[in-house]
Amino acid sequence: MLFRQIRETETSTYTYILGDPTWHEAVVIDPVLESVGAVLRILDQESMRLTYVLDTHVHADHVTGASALRARTDAQTVISGRAAVPCADVLVEDDDFIVLGDDVIRVIATPGHTPGCVSYRWRDRIFTGDALLIGGCGRTDFQGGDARALYDSITGKIFTLPDETLVYPGHDYTGRHVSCVGEEKRMNRRLAGKSREEFIAIMTELHLSEPKKIHVAVPANQRCGMLSAS
Ligand SMILES: [Fe+2]
Repeated sequence: MLFRQIRETETSTYTYILGDPTWHEAVVIDPVLESVGAVLRILDQESMRLTYVLDTHVHADHVTGASALRARTDAQTVISGRAAVPCADVLVEDDDFIVLGDDVIRVIATPGHTPGCVSYRWRDRIFTGDALLIGGCGRTDFQGGDARALYDSITGKIFTLPDETLVYPGHDYTGRHVSCVGEEKRMNRRLAGKSREEFIAIMTELHLSEPKKIHVAVPANQRCGMLSAS
């Protein structure tokens, strides 16, 4: 298999490339516009054809590279049907799957950070976007965020996967690359040993500042990453 994790340093965002060398097919998860060149170089080096571009949600801190990749390849763009992104080629919901070579990527709806957040499960790993982060979770104070829904998504869906399931998040601000479900159940400072009420209280008290690019990124991402409406 082909697996690459690319870090975009300005927003500490992770982009993932998943590939099947037998079929020479690859997908990319959460491409950052600034990382599109790196993604295309890797695909070229590995002789992979990009089939799908998967976004976990409408990002607020960076512009997706979905449109840029769709324009340069034959790939179709994928996002939740609840994300309000009508330009996407494939709108998915809970329990759908995306084919990658001989395998499938399972869609797990994990709302809470936004209503349209999904995680993607492939083989021994899950890509959690901004639902579950290493030692933390996505914020729930804008874009229709809901701490109750996020608690239910993490504890009722992600934490029911086998403990050894690898967790690859959408961001990590301290340079960590991967965790696993068992470690997050034991160590996550917002969730480990916390009741639903305690989690909601933690999320309510965060008082975070707005992402710098939110007023550019959200409208662009609702257009699949097109910076202008024309
Ligand atoms: Fe986000």
